[in-house]
Amino acid sequence: MAQLWGGRFTKETDKLVYQFNASINFDKRLADCDVTGSIAHTKMLAKTGIITAEEGSKIIEGLYSIIDDVHSGKLVITDEYEDIHSFMEANLIDRIGDAGKKLHTGRSRNDQVALDMRLYIRDSIMNTDACLASLLTVILDVMENNIETYMPGFTHLQKAQPVTLAHHMGAYFEMFKRDRLRLSDIYERANYCPLGAGALAGTTYPLDRNMVSELLGFYGPTLNSMDSVSDRDYVLEFLAALSIIMMHLSRFCEEMIIWNSNEYRFIELDDAYSTGSSIMPQKKNPDIAELVRGKTGRVYGALTSMLTTMKGIPLAYNKDMQEDKEMTFDAIDTVNNCIVLFTGMLSTTKFLSDNMAQSATKGFTNATDAADYLVKKGMPFRDAHSVIGRLVLACIDKDCSIDDLKIEELKEFSELFDEDIYDAISLKTCVEKRLTIGAPGIEAMKTVISINKEYLELTTKKVED
Ligand code: ARG
Repeated sequence: MAQLWGGRFTKETDKLVYQFNASINFDKRLADCDVTGSIAHTKMLAKTGIITAEEGSKIIEGLYSIIDDVHSGKLVITDEYEDIHSFMEANLIDRIGDAGKKLHTGRSRNDQVALDMRLYIRDSIMNTDACLASLLTVILDVMENNIETYMPGFTHLQKAQPVTLAHHMGAYFEMFKRDRLRLSDIYERANYCPLGAGALAGTTYPLDRNMVSELLGFYGPTLNSMDSVSDRDYVLEFLAALSIIMMHLSRFCEEMIIWNSNEYRFIELDDAYSTGSSIMPQKKNPDIAELVRGKTGRVYGALTSMLTTMKGIPLAYNKDMQEDKEMTFDAIDTVNNCIVLFTGMLSTTKFLSDNMAQSATKGFTNATDAADYLVKKGMPFRDAHSVIGRLVLACIDKDCSIDDLKIEELKEFSELFDEDIYDAISLKTCVEKRLTIGAPGIEAMKTVISINKEYLELTTKKVED
């Protein structure tokens, strides 16, 4: 048991207590962030003369050698240490002796862990954003190739009005675009440096907090030392953003599952992204989509759990906050995996456009357009709605579509019907006449696609820079 704080104690920590208290098994993930933070802290300590330049160089060299050995596997992070911070400090002292004991000058594990988490969340935001950018590229591709792929649009899961596959995909494009914006908003608020807050009340050493903040690429130091060590808003906001991403993915999955069913057959999932049944040889199941949908609960769980953990904690640091890590790490892994898997599934999916169009021609998706036809011929909309309602009822009786009726039959419902009705309510016309911004008509769709293409080019470049 290697601890940083034995001096005041006369008894060994109980073994179970030690294990219960330790976080090394999960905070070892913060190893890189911890070293990055310690190097910046050391540079500042040397620059301000709190330690000598020579001590500073020794510490930095020592930290680099430790992290190199961790990466190569030469040095293993074991649970012999309480947490990643103790591991680093103990190993540093082992390697460079007394100079190593000066690393923690003017610092507490409270501001240290707050910094490590900020650095980790900052990186994670960028990673998730990159995953979303790849997903958006695939969605845009499907959109570009399916501007004229007609399908029914649904409300209440009932066929409503015809749309196109490009239009339907475009809805998800907007959702994931907003998710990326949410991530960058969170980044803006999180990007302040808590190091220098000490345990809770700052420190008497003349630390240069601006320097550390600049070295680590933060916008500036945080402005209240108590808040700095007890704030986990950025974790909560990130978990909320991840939850919303999962909610979007889960809805998309739900649709893929429905579309892949024998009843719909709008899509066929690739063999590489489907699984079979151990008993029913005919089965090809959409397990990946189901799992993504299922894992949404797990990510919501992390958010709910963290909100609950934080709600009763008095200022400033309390050990409850150690609970911020495991579920956050799990949520991050889960979301990134789900986005990557979903992207692969979508990019290999075959869209069965004939079945989609066929489905759109049935189910009276052109009923609104038929009513609009009568309105254009002078009938008030409410009357037109009623005429077409009766017409639909008659069609249901005959088991046919509106356009299957002969003109004489149509005229029985209204004298205003003419031969041009058939063109006015064809699937093609129904979609193509919808040209308001954001509607599925070809020209409207092309405009949106070119805006989104430009957006993607601009923002992907930003991620790579
Ligand atoms: N493992 C701790 C955490 O994750 C580090 C901070 C410990 N600070 C303390 N005063 N015990 O929160």
